[in-house]
Amino acid sequence: MKQIFVINGPNLNMLGIREPAIYGHTTLDDINKEIKELGDRLGVACEFFQSNSEGALIDKIQSAYKNADGIIINPGAYTHYSYAIRDALASVDLPAIEVHLSDINSREEFRRHSVTKDVCREQISGLGKDGYLKALQILVEQYVD
Ligand code: DQA
Repeated sequence: MKQIFVINGPNLNMLGIREPAIYGHTTLDDINKEIKELGDRLGVACEFFQSNSEGALIDKIQSAYKNADGIIINPGAYTHYSYAIRDALASVDLPAIEVHLSDINSREEFRRHSVTKDVCREQISGLGKDGYLKALQILVEQYVD
């Protein structure tokens, strides 16, 4: 069975509590449950990981090499400046989709730039939790063979 790593970065463990006007009331566990259900319907296994630490995120991305067929990642604020996470995604050379709950292009200036986007096949931004579901659908239908 194809394996998809679903990786969330810093502060995404605070979903449901964190700035609900921007990120909504849904928790990360609720989102992951919906992703898992979609994965079951699509016939892929999803493994979930969240960390607030850059090194732990890099270790998880590296562990996808030979262990996963694709990656869905919301790097949180690391999106905007972590060349190390970008390099990790480039290193494993797996199809990856970057997801953001909020529309990063219509917020503060510093959020408009993603250093990880170019090493991902697509960036999905502003669809809330549905962005993760869309990412899984696209990954399975277009990029994971
Ligand atoms: C985010 C957007 C980032 O700018 C922010 O730092 C986050 C969440 C999003 O999902 O909208 O932590 O990645």
